[in-house]
Amino acid sequence: MNQNPIGIFDSGIGGLTVLREITRLLPGENTIYLGDTARVPYGNKSRETVERYSLEIAHFLLRHGIKMLVAACNTASAYALDRLKKELAIPVIGVIEPGAKAALRATRTRRVGVIGTEGTIRSNAYSSAIKALDPDVSTFTKACPLFVPLAEEGWTDDDVTLSVAERYLGELKGHGIDTLVLGCTHYPLLKGVLAKVMGAGVTLIDSAESTAEEVKRVLTERDMLHPGAQARAEHRFFVTDSPERFVTVGRRFFGERLDGAELARLAE
Ligand code: DGL
Repeated sequence: MNQNPIGIFDSGIGGLTVLREITRLLPGENTIYLGDTARVPYGNKSRETVERYSLEIAHFLLRHGIKMLVAACNTASAYALDRLKKELAIPVIGVIEPGAKAALRATRTRRVGVIGTEGTIRSNAYSSAIKALDPDVSTFTKACPLFVPLAEEGWTDDDVTLSVAERYLGELKGHGIDTLVLGCTHYPLLKGVLAKVMGAGVTLIDSAESTAEEVKRVLTERDMLHPGAQARAEHRFFVTDSPERFVTVGRRFFGERLDGAELARLAE
């Protein structure tokens, strides 16, 4: 069982930022990634739909023998994590709680900003997770839907992205936050621009890094780490549409190790 892969899913390519951190921290672990490229974006869909998609993906990955499931999508974590935890017999990890914990470790002023998709912000998942850990922290949120297509387009250091960021984040800056949670898988790619707009006094929290730490913590605690250092772990990629585009764009997130993707049939 310990040699079995970790299953990681996202609505598309964004979750590769989480996969990247997991492979950095746990290089011996085999992984299977599923990007639901046929149905992306999840960010503007209802809770019911995102829950249904997430369960279909979880069952697909279970058929491939995963030992743990990581919902590497903020919207899926916000809407479907409870249901996944209830229905699956393996450990399930989302990105919200690790991001919330990292924000609390970073903030001094106890004023924390959160940006994400419309669904993630509407669900209030980050604010609830932060307040559950420390009720005295104030949170200020903003949905930034245009960041996802800008990241997909590769416009990570571009004047257009800078001006979109200034417009979205101006309001948050006015609240005097010292920490900003990047509550969407794609946003770590825009870190340079976001840091420029927010200024040196604001710490950016990338939930990918803290999620990878959580994966390691849970696998260690349950004695589920892959035995022995593997010379080369296996990373398998599935998508629900257009493998070629996934590979081209995904390499911006994951590098040359992404050397091909297979088409997944979810309903079986
Ligand atoms: N993966 C999504 C998230 O982290 C962003 C893309 C989408 O809207 O599906 O919320």
